[in-house]
Amino acid sequence: MVQMWEEIMEQPTVLGRCLHTNEKVIASLVTAVKNRNVSSIIIAARGTSDHAAVYGKYVLEMLTGIPVSLAAPSIFTMYGKSVQMGNSLVLGISQSGKAADVAEVIRAANAQGAVTAAITNFTDSPLAVEAQYHLFCDCGLERSVAATKTFTAQLYLISQLAAAWTCNEDFKRALAEVPEGLKKTFEEAQDVETKVERYRFMKECFVLARGVNYAIALESALKIQETTYTRAKAFATSDFHHGPFAMIEKDMPVIVYAPEGPSLKDVTGMIQKLREHEAEIVIVSNKEELAQYSNCFLKIPKTDNDFISPFYNVAVAQMFACRLALAKGLNPDSPRGLNKVTITR
Ligand code: AGP
Repeated sequence: MVQMWEEIMEQPTVLGRCLHTNEKVIASLVTAVKNRNVSSIIIAARGTSDHAAVYGKYVLEMLTGIPVSLAAPSIFTMYGKSVQMGNSLVLGISQSGKAADVAEVIRAANAQGAVTAAITNFTDSPLAVEAQYHLFCDCGLERSVAATKTFTAQLYLISQLAAAWTCNEDFKRALAEVPEGLKKTFEEAQDVETKVERYRFMKECFVLARGVNYAIALESALKIQETTYTRAKAFATSDFHHGPFAMIEKDMPVIVYAPEGPSLKDVTGMIQKLREHEAEIVIVSNKEELAQYSNCFLKIPKTDNDFISPFYNVAVAQMFACRLALAKGLNPDSPRGLNKVTITR
């Protein structure tokens, strides 16, 4: 089997390990941000890591109440400007740790006396060395160009940081169940291999979700783009109403993440509207009763915590992209025109 598939399947083991590896550094980082009483959190990242940052915005902002912004690294590198970060936690995320523009943001933050941290999969990477605190994904080597296990490790470390920061024991318990939940996801969604056949000739699609799962819509679209060359575009359902919906026509494929939780009402409203316009609807949800409104239904385990469903949704997204690439006769491990490490400045 291709590397991407094997790396998807490694995720339950990887998450358990990366948590153990980082318990002490997370505790030290929490002490530092509390001592400094930071008033904002700034996250810098690119590509898949930037989608982990979007997840981080929702989780850290909602649990700590501290505003989280996503940095525009070009402000530092291309425009040669800076922003006020002295009283912030500045977090750089990069699986390779080689993201030069992200490292530049951390460098500027260090110079201003901010608390800085990096999440990477390489302890000796430039970003890991530049930041004051390093949260190590401990994924083992990820060979497929398509990032999978490093992404879920990034989500897991961000969540663990938020849980430790806010002493949220319920969230810690919910996170401890994620590795088992992922195994269950693999079982529930194993029919993806046959279900993707229907989309073998798909050239374009939309991917929709709301709230924290918007991060997963973005990541799902990126996985489909890079492994299958499909023109996939992600939107928050809330934004999709404001113009993009006009692009919907009969048989247009739309993947909708509809987990039980705060986003369900809005997302099911969108599914209804998509049906009225005869779209081809793929639903990813724990709620089997939604299957009747779909052309393809992929099941995830039920969770009461809206910060946990992204782990199960993204596992399905990764499986879908990988199997669709294979159904199209493509190798998802080495997409055309891409390298494992992309350095932008
Ligand atoms: C991931 O599937 C992509 N190949 C790509 O977006 C990647 O995430 C991006 O280049 C960022 O890399 P980094 O995490 O090593 O900085």
